[in-house]
Amino acid sequence: MNMFDSIVIKDLTVRNRVVMPPMCQYSVEKKDGIVNDWHFQHYVSRAVGGAGMIIIEMTGIDPDGRITDYDLGLWSDSQIEPLKRLVEECRKYGAVVGIQIGHAGRKAENANVPAAPSAIRFSGDYKTPRELTTAEAEEIVIKFQEAAKRAVKAGVDFIEIHGAHGYLIHQFHSPLTNKRDDKYGQDLSRFGAEVVSAVKEAVPERMPLLFRISAVEYADGGYSIDYAAELAEKYKAAGVDVFHVSSGGEGTKGPDNAFPGYQVSMAERIKNAVGLPVIAVGNLQDPELAQKVIEENKADFVAIGRGMLNDPYWTLHAAGRLKESIEIPKQYQRAFHRPKA
Ligand SMILES: Cc1cc2nc3c(=O)[nH]c(=O)nc-3n(C[C@H](O)[C@H](O)[C@H](O)COP(=O)(O)O)c2cc1C
Repeated sequence: MNMFDSIVIKDLTVRNRVVMPPMCQYSVEKKDGIVNDWHFQHYVSRAVGGAGMIIIEMTGIDPDGRITDYDLGLWSDSQIEPLKRLVEECRKYGAVVGIQIGHAGRKAENANVPAAPSAIRFSGDYKTPRELTTAEAEEIVIKFQEAAKRAVKAGVDFIEIHGAHGYLIHQFHSPLTNKRDDKYGQDLSRFGAEVVSAVKEAVPERMPLLFRISAVEYADGGYSIDYAAELAEKYKAAGVDVFHVSSGGEGTKGPDNAFPGYQVSMAERIKNAVGLPVIAVGNLQDPELAQKVIEENKADFVAIGRGMLNDPYWTLHAAGRLKESIEIPKQYQRAFHRPKA
């Protein structure tokens, strides 16, 4: 296996294994959640730069479910057309494009009163959330579904559900943040599984559904990779096709050492546990290291976040460094290495 090999996931062919992971740009101008010129150039340039898969940043399913008021949204039909233009343009350059839909829960910084599974504050700088009623939690499941329908109307190739980094779905499945005694407290994976099923119903049958999961928590008493593997089994049963394996976000503590590839073993563990393709992420911008992850089949994709903020053409440059063949946009061919084939 090679980082520049294509791969087919359900009905989707991805030209290589390089993923641009979701990265909030906090660049919406009028708090309206609508894609603007910044988003357009930001994503299209990574498509020109050779990324196989682009995952548009965390996009709120509800205005108060955003981390900030400057995040994208998909709670209104008015948000569909500008997103559609962006998706279509990225696809012209050979990338497949999906969107990460999410709800920030207790980490919604600009909501007057954020809502969460339980009224437990994230940290001293954050507001104390109020506890969602069961009916409100059910409404949020429907909002995920409606946002997914809008994403499909905008022409996305796939959807990623944000179940990581201490946001709402993670808050529901973590014993640290879910102290409820209703159905969502009796089975901590129930809310996430309902979101997965609801989104699955809203998308074409052969469209891949991705789920981002935090494989471990770093706070005292946080869950382990074994628990994450159990969660992944349940989310797989509900309809997930690919796991995007990250970690943390439930508290202010992170890993002791975020060394290059520090989350790869977690991705490998989830891959082996559920038997589905996975995306590894986290300090993988060294092309030799990223290539090794794919060659050794530890993951099916590698996501390059900050590396791609730093270099929109990371994929083209990585191919040059590794002497692999890749299609260079014709306008730029004189500036790049000559492809092998
Ligand atoms: C500016 C920025 C914004 C981010 N926003 C998101 C986001 O919207 N959703 C998400 O799941 N992760 C988000 N992340 C995390 C990245 O997707 C990625 O997991 C992280 O940066 C580690 O990968 P890297 O070492 O290649 O940067 C963000 C990271 C950065 C740097």
